[in-house]
Amino acid sequence: MKKVLFVNGCIRGAQSRTLRLAQRLVRQIPDADIEVLALPALHLTPYDAKDIAERDALSAAGAFSLPFFALANQFKNADAIVLACPFWDLSVPSMVRNYLERLCVTGLTFHYNDKCYPVGDCRPQRFVYVTTRGGIVKNDDPALADHASAYLLSICKLLTNARFDTLAAEGLDIQGNDAEALLRDAEAKADRLAQSFWDEA
Ligand SMILES: Cc1cc2nc3c(=O)[nH]c(=O)nc-3n(C[C@H](O)[C@H](O)[C@H](O)COP(=O)(O)O)c2cc1C
Repeated sequence: MKKVLFVNGCIRGAQSRTLRLAQRLVRQIPDADIEVLALPALHLTPYDAKDIAERDALSAAGAFSLPFFALANQFKNADAIVLACPFWDLSVPSMVRNYLERLCVTGLTFHYNDKCYPVGDCRPQRFVYVTTRGGIVKNDDPALADHASAYLLSICKLLTNARFDTLAAEGLDIQGNDAEALLRDAEAKADRLAQSFWDEA
């Protein structure tokens, strides 16, 4: 069995269409032991000066097994990551950003090689970002750009060697659109993604 970390950043809980789409994927991943991390319950705050000082001191001491780094270790030791969150303000909700701050730890989840290039030290071989959007994205238009996929792809490549995919339904809040039909189309994509989940590239 492979360990899949399902990072649930769906703030609206049972109302969340992103959660519905993500669950459709997660439930069908073959050979998977699913660990759920419910981000809303963690109430993560942004790192402040005290947190950074503590992180620096513990990192310098190599104390990476302490609870301070629990989220980073959990991410590091998973075989796959499914991160689900709604598309907010062209990117991820700040709650997810607070989570990502806990993952990027030099010396634990990545290091720099002798050419000062970052090398990921985390195990995941798959990273799927699941989202739903009220409108649409167009990356050639700054006011409509998808900063979430680009950002999460970069975080994925910083920390891992994983294949990255975005699974999205969009246009759900546009008047006249059939949100249910759009979600069903995305669910069909989730079904296909689940079947090929462990395939290379
Ligand atoms: C605070 C907030 C910001 C949002 N920003 C965007 C946005 O930038 N672009 C967009 O297309 N939709 C945006 N939306 C709409 C949501 O992406 C859309 O309703 C989504 O389906 C919500 O997902 P959920 O049902 O999982 O909560 C925003 C919604 C909220 C509440």
